[in-house]
Amino acid sequence: MAGGVGSRFWPFSRNNYPKQFHDVLGIGESMIQTTVKRFSTVCPKENIYIVTNREYKNLVKLHFPDFSEEQILQEPIGRNTAPCIAYACFKIAQRNPAANIIVAPADHVILREQAFLNCIQQGLEVASQEDILVTIGIKPTRPDTGYGYIQYLPESTRCAMKVKTFAEKPTLEKALKFIESGDFVWNAGIFIWNAQSILKAFRTHLKDVADLFEDGAASFYTHEEDAFIDATYANCRNVSIDYGIMEKAENVQVILGDLGWSDVGTWNSLYSIADKTPEGNVVDGDTMLYDTQNCIIKTPQDKLVVIQGLQDYIVAEHDNVLMICQRKNEQQVKDFVSHAKASK
Ligand code: GDD
Ligand code: MG
Repeated sequence: MAGGVGSRFWPFSRNNYPKQFHDVLGIGESMIQTTVKRFSTVCPKENIYIVTNREYKNLVKLHFPDFSEEQILQEPIGRNTAPCIAYACFKIAQRNPAANIIVAPADHVILREQAFLNCIQQGLEVASQEDILVTIGIKPTRPDTGYGYIQYLPESTRCAMKVKTFAEKPTLEKALKFIESGDFVWNAGIFIWNAQSILKAFRTHLKDVADLFEDGAASFYTHEEDAFIDATYANCRNVSIDYGIMEKAENVQVILGDLGWSDVGTWNSLYSIADKTPEGNVVDGDTMLYDTQNCIIKTPQDKLVVIQGLQDYIVAEHDNVLMICQRKNEQQVKDFVSHAKASK
């Protein structure tokens, strides 16, 4: 899934060049390239499909010159993750009705690759045998209201555990309660299921979306696919897989993973996982720092940045925008984006 805009990560993430196409960690490859590489031992490259906005097609091609056109599923408009997943899963099922499918966001960081691959293998094993929707659960560290929360029934004999409650983006009050209770984990936003299980879940919980994609399934892999998808998206509502299916389905299971996972949704989430200098700064750029602590500084390589006496700030410059913002006020970044758009 590579169609999101990642606006809380502005000014790096931009409408015309979103976060997943950036080398956010400064490791020499974009997040989407790292994501594809991560699955290279699980899935042959030709079985990987990237669902993205048509606007980003050329960016995807630039990052994956050896992918075929067929592997890039282009959406005319963003309708959130349920239609994105429906498009890919109905298309995959058309060619291989028995496929086991892993759905992954293009913009997550996973530091413990082997632990992640173990979770995926375990997930594939159970999802290929049972009609279940498998999620990966992460031990929560704060009452973040931007995540889905999963309450599970502990099971001693197998790694995939039955899910009792799936609560997407709860209020802060609820999130605090969930964390206190100790039996909730965060939904990592990565799903594993058999094609028939997810198709059935769409037919049960999002029938209108299922009907739209099913109606023209014969056009997949033909020259009529684009026209069919344009018409389908024009009639499709905006709904996430979490609200549309995961909250409602009774056959959800979760595998817990200690993965060094972060969805890098905000500057502070990047701060929490990135390497820091002894002064607690995360630095990517040519900098001279004096009496400066606990800052994130991400600036162009060709600009010398000199900072004195700064604590707990984000300093980010990209493509003609320089943002200087207190780390504790990072939730305002979304407002900056809309104000900047409005003032243009
Ligand atoms: N192709 C496509 N089209 N991709 C999309 C679209 C779309 O319309 N909307 C979002 N995506 C992609 C994003 O780029 C991202 O990689 C992924 O789908 C998830 O979307 P987000 O918008 O980032 O979701 P979220 O962070 O609010 O919530 C989800 O992820 C959390 C973990 O990071 C949920 O699954 C939560 O339950 C979960 O905790
Ligand atoms: Mg996200």
